[in-house]
Amino acid sequence: MYGFGTMIEKLKADPKTIVLTEGKDARILEAASRLLASNFLKPILLGNPEEIAGAAEEAGYNIRGAEIINPEDYDKFDEMVEVFCEVRKNKGMTEEKARPILRQANYFGTMLVKMGLADCLLGGATYSTADTVRPALQVIKTKPGNSVVSSCFILVRPSATGDNEVIAMSDCAININPTEDELVEICGETVQCARAFGIDPKVAFLSFSTKGSAHDPSVTKMQNATKKAQGRYPDVPIDGELQFDAAVSPRVARQKTPDSNVAGHANTFIFPDVNAGNLGYKIAQRMGNFEAYGPILLGLNAPINDLSRGCNALEVYSMAIITASLA
Ligand SMILES: CC(C)(COP(=O)(O)OP(=O)(O)OC[C@H]1O[C@@H](n2cnc3c(N)ncnc32)[C@H](O)[C@@H]1OP(=O)(O)O)[C@@H](O)C(=O)NCCC(=O)NCCS
Repeated sequence: MYGFGTMIEKLKADPKTIVLTEGKDARILEAASRLLASNFLKPILLGNPEEIAGAAEEAGYNIRGAEIINPEDYDKFDEMVEVFCEVRKNKGMTEEKARPILRQANYFGTMLVKMGLADCLLGGATYSTADTVRPALQVIKTKPGNSVVSSCFILVRPSATGDNEVIAMSDCAININPTEDELVEICGETVQCARAFGIDPKVAFLSFSTKGSAHDPSVTKMQNATKKAQGRYPDVPIDGELQFDAAVSPRVARQKTPDSNVAGHANTFIFPDVNAGNLGYKIAQRMGNFEAYGPILLGLNAPINDLSRGCNALEVYSMAIITASLA
C-alpha cells in the first residue's frame, strides 16, 4: 500500500483544503490540531466560532490558525443559495426552501466544495452515512459516464515485517442491492481505487455459490455481472461467482475451481449487496485484525467521504489525508 507518507508527500507538493462538517466534535478538533501542526492539508471547521474555540480549549487542542466558517453567518450565503437553487432547479428548489437547508453543516460544507471554495469534505462523525452522502449525491453528483455513486473500503493488516496485507472491498456502504450493471461499474471504480492504494487488483465477485454450486437469482446476478465485467475490463483478472473461501484460499480454490486465474489469490472483493459487504468488512476489521479505511466514495465529481460515528481522532486524521489525496 502507498503509505500515508507517500500521500503526505503528494499533498505537501500540492496542499489542499478539507471541510470538516462537525467543527466542535472533540475527535474532529484533535485531528484538526494535528493537521494544523503540519503544512499539507488545511482544515475548514464548520460551526459557531466561539463554541468551537470553547470546545477546543476544554478538550486541550490547539486549533490556532484554523479557518472556521459559521453557516449561520456567512458573507457569501446569498451566492450559495443562488448556486444551490440552480443545481436543484429541476427539483423545485426555491430561495425560501434553500436557506434553512444550507444552514445545515452537511449541505453547507458540500456547497463549499461545489463552489470551489474547498477541495474536499469529510463528515459523518455525528451525521449518519445517509445524511453525509445525500448532499453529495444531490449537489456534487455522479461523474460523467457513471450511473451510481458507490463506495470502497481499503483494509490493511499490518505485518511485523512491514509487508502489510492490503485488500479492497465494495460496495459495503451505499447501494443496498446493486443491479448487474451497477456491480460492473462498482468493479471498475474499485479497481481504480485499489490501484491508488498500491493493490494490483485480482477481482472476485462474491456469492454463497462457487461456479454454479447453488442456484438463486442472487447467484445468477453475480454470474452475469462477472461475465459483463470480464468483457468490459479485459486487462483485469476478474472471476466469479466465488465463495469467499474459494476466493482467498489456494487449497479451496484448487478443489472448487482449479482453472480460475483469480481464485485463491483475490484481493479485491465485489459483494452482491450491502448486507454482505457491510458485514464482511466489519468481520475482517473486528475479528481479522484489519484496519479499515472508508467508506471511500467512488464515482462522485469531487472527493466527499463519510466517517463512521464510532470513529476515533486517528481515523479522522487518516481519512482526511485519504480524502485529500483523491482531490
Ligand atoms: C445513499 C443513500 C443515502 C441515498 O438515499 P436517499 O437520499 O434516501 O435516496 P433518494 O432515492 O432520495 O435519492 C436522493 C438523491 O440521490 C441520488 N442517488 C441515490 N442513490 C444514489 C447512488 N447510489 N448514486 C448516485 N446517486 C444516487 C438520487 O438520484 C437522488 O438525486 P436527486 O435528488 O437529484 O434526484 C441510500 O442509498 C442509503 O441510505 N444507503 C445506505 C447507507 C447506509 O446506511 N450504509 C450503511 C452504513 S455505512
